[in-house]
Amino acid sequence: MKTVAILSRKGGTGKTTLAVHLSVAAERAGHTTALIDLDPQASAVSWSDKREGGTPAVISAHSSRLPDLLATAEQSGVDLAIIDTAAHAETSALAAARAATLALIPCRPASLDLLAIGATVDVVKLAKVPAYVVFNGAPARGNLTNEARRAVEAYDVPCAPCSIGQRIAFVHALIDGLTVQEAEPTGKASHEINALYAYLANEIEV
Ligand SMILES: Nc1ncnc2c1ncn2[C@@H]1O[C@H](COP(=O)(O)OP(=O)(O)OP(=O)(O)O)[C@@H](O)[C@H]1O
Ligand SMILES: [Mg+2]
Repeated sequence: MKTVAILSRKGGTGKTTLAVHLSVAAERAGHTTALIDLDPQASAVSWSDKREGGTPAVISAHSSRLPDLLATAEQSGVDLAIIDTAAHAETSALAAARAATLALIPCRPASLDLLAIGATVDVVKLAKVPAYVVFNGAPARGNLTNEARRAVEAYDVPCAPCSIGQRIAFVHALIDGLTVQEAEPTGKASHEINALYAYLANEIEV
């Protein structure tokens, strides 16, 4: 089983959005996937409650239970576990990073988010887990994402080659317990998620 932790010490960067979309992408690629929600706000669980069909499995947990939960998931035949974390919870973020094969750090290409990224980089360095920054909410026009890529170079963590745009399709899909792959399969948002999933799957070899 491979485990991906979605981490960012800053709120609202798109952790839950990426966690649910990558989980559904993995299921659609034929992998049994579990989404573990460590955030007490339980946003991923609320999204799952609105879904039909029961996949991906979404489990709310405290970080102290994470090792046992991952062991049980592996024994039950889960191929990929994706962990959604809370923004301001260092112990929980560190537990997720330590359990992970790879960490993804969603970041909006905006100056305040870039300034805050150092705290998340500290967590992945402490856990000695490979990590990528993923730009989320990238504007359709302008050079902001390229400038952000240059700013991230200072932190010694690579950026994923693909980014996710600022698209209302993400907001609408999540409200209905769906993902953009299901709500607008041929839309730009769906293509971006498919590209990010393909990149991730290749990195972690699932
Ligand atoms: N690419 C995007 N385009 C448009 N809206 C987005 C995008 N990504 C996230 N959002 C919206 O931004 C808000 C924050 O996203 P999300 O809840 O995924 O962030 P988060 O990092 O999980 O937040 P928290 O730190 O509170 O857990 C949500 O309303 C979500 O619908
Ligand atoms: Mg969240």
